[in-house]
Amino acid sequence: RLADLQGLKRGRLRIAMVTTAKYLIPRLLGEFCARHPGIEAELTVTNREKLLARLAANEDDLVILGKPPGGLDVVATPIADNPLVVLARHDHPLAGQKAIPPARIAEEPFILRERGSGTRRAAERFFAAQGCTLKVRMELGSNEAIKQAIAGGLGLSVLSRHTLALEGEAGLIQPLDVAGFPLQSQWYVAYPAGKHLSAVASAFIDHLLASQGHTAVNFPE
Ligand code: PGA
Repeated sequence: RLADLQGLKRGRLRIAMVTTAKYLIPRLLGEFCARHPGIEAELTVTNREKLLARLAANEDDLVILGKPPGGLDVVATPIADNPLVVLARHDHPLAGQKAIPPARIAEEPFILRERGSGTRRAAERFFAAQGCTLKVRMELGSNEAIKQAIAGGLGLSVLSRHTLALEGEAGLIQPLDVAGFPLQSQWYVAYPAGKHLSAVASAFIDHLLASQGHTAVNFPE
């Protein structure tokens, strides 16, 4: 429709995303903006709990997060895999071992994300279900700060595999082969049910869906 095409010439797109998605979404947004140069994008990066509050208050055009809770009245479509892995410094004694039992991980000093983080929630749930209590040495509100702490020898952590997107898996910090990992999760693009989406927002959802698979980071098995 003409109105839609005009809408794509100019317009604003407000997206809020969980911290794990910032390793993927800006690249997809870059492609989208290159194709539609008149679009001005505004990105907010925060954790799951804060994002759910923004979603409930309808503060953004679109939000990108892990599976939204069942009780929330939202339209949510899966867009990409977000595997969570146990990360260690490359010279950690457990590096290179196969099928490490989760109980062994629980003996090591552990670095947790802040309260309200979906990554933290997934990690805590997994170890609790295994009957393990993590030895939490530190809480940090940033994936990048946690990577630096791991590199500094402060402990292990569970983070999205996408946090290694730029440095790869053969760098200073590496995933361990832990039984039950990677924890499988997915990102969804979501908005409140009944919301009228702008032409730009709909076009960006189409772009995310068209990019599924081939733009996601490919991980060696
Ligand atoms: P978060 O990300 O840890 O920044 O809340 C959650 C997610 O990827 O689902």
